[in-house]
Amino acid sequence: MSLIAPSILSADFLQLSKDVQMVNDSQADWFHLDIMDGRFVPNISFGLPVVGAIKREAKKTLDVHLMIEEPGNYAEAFQKAGADILSVHIEACPHLHRNLQQIHSLGMKAGVAINPHTPVSQLFDVLHDVDVVCMMSVNPGFGGQKFIEYTLDKIRTLKAEINRRQLKTLIEIDGGVTLDNAKIITDAGADVLVAGNTVFSAADPTATIAELKRITSAN
Ligand code: DX5
Ligand code: ZN
Repeated sequence: MSLIAPSILSADFLQLSKDVQMVNDSQADWFHLDIMDGRFVPNISFGLPVVGAIKREAKKTLDVHLMIEEPGNYAEAFQKAGADILSVHIEACPHLHRNLQQIHSLGMKAGVAINPHTPVSQLFDVLHDVDVVCMMSVNPGFGGQKFIEYTLDKIRTLKAEINRRQLKTLIEIDGGVTLDNAKIITDAGADVLVAGNTVFSAADPTATIAELKRITSAN
């Protein structure tokens, strides 16, 4: 069974409290929070005050995905705002090992996000220091995009390496997850599914989260 992380990027920002409560009361496991700076990605989302506000009501893990340049300058601020897991992009981190040490020293789980064009082998040397690989299955910046199919091969390659070394690193898939592809993604080796549009555009988001849990638990 996969962990499910609804992406707040697709929530109704005028009713954020209601959407946070919905996730609290659902079978979802984490809140996925997308931070965009308009430089690393061509979009701007929300920042520290919104993460802090969500933290006050959230009863589940806050999984914060930084799509920003120089993320090390903000790691402490996001920890103070309430991040439990902090993911930085490998493409934004020339000193990734240092970023991972910083995140751990601040008491958070460390995630590395990786764009569709970046080979997973670039993570192998630091994999033992990575709690979560946030594997992008769309080009980051926007919700509601189509799943990029070759991500499935990247999941299999990464899973094989994690298993070979008996690591506990989780594979999280971010972008384009639907009720139709959730099972094949889980079968490829994903442990966590982010779902924005699929959850928040549904007529019944709570039931959709339950359905994602059900689909990913079946053999
Ligand atoms: C994309 C973000 C995703 C996004 C996923 O840049 O990192 O987390 O919210 O949205 P969906 O599930 O709609 O593709
Ligand atoms: Zn994300």
